[in-house]
Order: sequence, then C-alpha cells, then structure tokens
Amino acid sequence: MTQKIKKPECEPYQQFSYLMNLFHGTYRSDYTNFAGASIPLDVFPNPECLIEELHKSITNNVAGYVSSLGTKEIREIIANYENTRTNNERYSFENVALIPGSATEAISYAFDRIFHDNKGELLISLPNYWLPLEYMKRKLPKVAVRKIHATAENNFLPSIEQIRNNLSEKTRALFICNPLNPSGRAHSNEELEKIISIAAQHGTYVILDESCYDQMYPGNKTPCTQSNYEKLIIIRTWSKDRGRPDFNLGYMIASPELLEERSKGVLYDDPGRIFLGFIKKDMQMRTLMLKEKPSLEKDKEKSEFKDYKETINSNISTFRRNVEYAMKRLRSCKNIDQILEPEGGFTLFFHTNHPGIQSGFQLVQELFNATGLTALPGSVFGMNGDPTWMRISLAWELNKPNTIDKGAPKTYVDDGIGKLIEFLE
Ligand SMILES: Cc1ncc(COP(=O)(O)O)c(C=O)c1O
Repeated sequence: MTQKIKKPECEPYQQFSYLMNLFHGTYRSDYTNFAGASIPLDVFPNPECLIEELHKSITNNVAGYVSSLGTKEIREIIANYENTRTNNERYSFENVALIPGSATEAISYAFDRIFHDNKGELLISLPNYWLPLEYMKRKLPKVAVRKIHATAENNFLPSIEQIRNNLSEKTRALFICNPLNPSGRAHSNEELEKIISIAAQHGTYVILDESCYDQMYPGNKTPCTQSNYEKLIIIRTWSKDRGRPDFNLGYMIASPELLEERSKGVLYDDPGRIFLGFIKKDMQMRTLMLKEKPSLEKDKEKSEFKDYKETINSNISTFRRNVEYAMKRLRSCKNIDQILEPEGGFTLFFHTNHPGIQSGFQLVQELFNATGLTALPGSVFGMNGDPTWMRISLAWELNKPNTIDKGAPKTYVDDGIGKLIEFLE
C-alpha cells in the first residue's frame, strides 16, 4: 500500500523517528534496509576468542552485579589501551567508566553534568549524529545550541576557522564526532589537537564522540589525540567498534570528577557481568593490535590474536568493498552529482539533484513507496538549506540476500543500489 508523503515541518529527530516507524511499520516484500542499525553477524562476525568469552560467561557458575563504573581490572585494561593508543601515560582506571546504555547514555550523562543547571552554550557542527540536538531540546531546553554549518568542501567537518570564530567563554561544551556520522570522514590528528587547544583556551569541555573509531580503512590516518586537557571526554561504543548494538554498552574516558556522580552507582544500571570477559579480551587484543611487534609467547595466544586481527580487518575490508562498489555504480547515475568518499565505515553520503525534489525527507518516503528501499536524508542529521544529501548504510552482503530478523525481507547491497539508481533516474 502506498503511504501518504509527509512534509518536513518537523525537526531532525522527529523526521528520523517518523521514517523509522514508516519503514518498520509497513510490510513490503521488497524491503531493503539501507537506513542502518541491524548488522548481519554472519557477514561481519566477531572474532572467535570473543565469542568464546561470551560462552564462558553464560555457562559460568557465578552471577551477580558489577560496580557501576565496571570492575577495577577492566577499567585498568581500558586505561592501558587508551594510554597505548594515545602514546601518553595520563589515564588510570579512575578515568574510565563502562557505560550501560552505550554512547547514547555517555553523551547524555556528559551533557547532564556539564549543563547541570540547564544554562550555558553547546557548540556543534551540522550535519551530525542527531542525539545532541534532540537531548538538548528534550532535557536541557535552556542551554543555547550554537550551530556551525559545515560544508561539503570540508567533508562536512567543521573547519578550524569555524570553531575559532564560534567558540567563546560562553561555550561550555563542544561536541565533535570523529569520524563523522554521516560522512565517514575524520579530522586529522593535527586538526583534532588544534580544536582541543582552542577549546582549552576557553575552558570548554570537548566531547569527542569516537563511536566509529575502529572502522577506519587501512592506510587512512587514524585520528587520535595525545592531549592532556582535563576537560576532554572520549566516548567509544561496542555497537560500532565490534558491530554489537545488541550489547548496548560503551565506555567513557573523563576526569574522575566528571565520573564521580556515576561512581555513586545507585542511580545507574549495572554494566552487565555477562560482558566482562568479552570486553577484557577485546581490549587486550585491541592493545596488541596497536603494537608493531606484539610479544606473544604461547601458541594459543598467537593463534587467537591472528584470528582476531584477521577477522577485524576482513570486516573492515568488506565495508570498504561495499562502499567502493556502491560509489562506482552511483557515479554513473546522472542525478547524483556529488559523492563524499568515506575514510572508513559502512555508510555513504551523496547528493542528488533528482528533478522535482522538494526535500530529502519527502524523497526518501517516495523512494520507499516506489521501491521498498530505506535511506536517510541529510535533514535528519540537522542539515537545512540544500535538502538533497542522503545517507545509505551498506553493512550487508554484496550480492547474497541476508535475512537477519525472522520474517524480515532480504537485504543486499547490489540489489539496493540497483533500486536506488532506477528510482533516481
Ligand atoms: C556518531 C554516533 N555516536 C553515538 C551513537 C550511539 O551509539 P550507541 O548505539 O552505541 O549508543 C551513534 C549511533 O549510531 C553514532 O553514530
């Protein structure tokens, strides 16, 4: 059944939730999910040693609660990874909190602490992940949100100039998503250090959302700051780093003072003992991956590490293969005039000049009505003005159908790109 097309009079998150209800609530036998979220684990598996840890936890004979920030051992292992990654010895377990509720909760918690009195100013560039704008509107409506409109020429990342010109004593927090959802582009180390030092001049918190950090393609610069700035907050999540949105778990690096409220524990959920083995192994392996010549003695350790590395790298290669395949085909579509080449991840952001288009929000509804293909318009990432940027998510098999949810129709990249091109032409 063809649905009525809704006009874009609502805000980014309302558009997003309207589209998700439409996509999930309408049965279509030709449904193809390019809007994101579900990850087929047969195509993007977790390394064997991590699955073994999950198994062990389930069959373990001890169940129980964990202190709200995670165990000291796990926090130490994460601090060690962060010190190795940033080539800096600044973090101890006191800087680390496991976050049930994942990056979403970590960002929300940081906002609650920084804007505890519902005053001050947040600086954010757009397009960006939709949560910060929506959280401010719902929970901290008196905080002024200052928006930087980033440009396609700068890969939709805020420029240093834009940050310098918009940051002031009033700015309590600057939200930086690196790599950026939706463009899959990242600030270089140098840019990141500059941004943090500008913020430090004003005493502004920097919330560095690194949710997509581990998805950079090999050979691209891996952005990572060595800054000692005490108001730097780093956020990571297993939902992207290991393709496990079902864990709903992330971590946060911040000053012990900022984490203090969480350490009181009672108000917050438990991080889940069941995941501790998985996290410990994952963080140890990630740390080894950072070393040029990891010293491993036992054969079992060596083979575990080899499998870990190969599985992670192969998942990223599959993302890259999908994205490159899609780019190649979309370049031949006469109504697509700009494609932003990502440096990592499984999403592709492109611009269409499809004739008669009124808004991206309307376009994706028409696309869904006509073909069963779901995509997201730039407006759900807070873009206004030019309406016709779109994001497609390609975490699927290239040309074999996947069925991941019982009863859900099939999705694969080749088929979806074909539908998209046919619709746009
Ligand atoms: C940039 C970015 N930050 C945070 C999140 C939220 O992550 P989580 O689902 O782990 O809370 C997402 C999810 O898509 C994201 O893309």
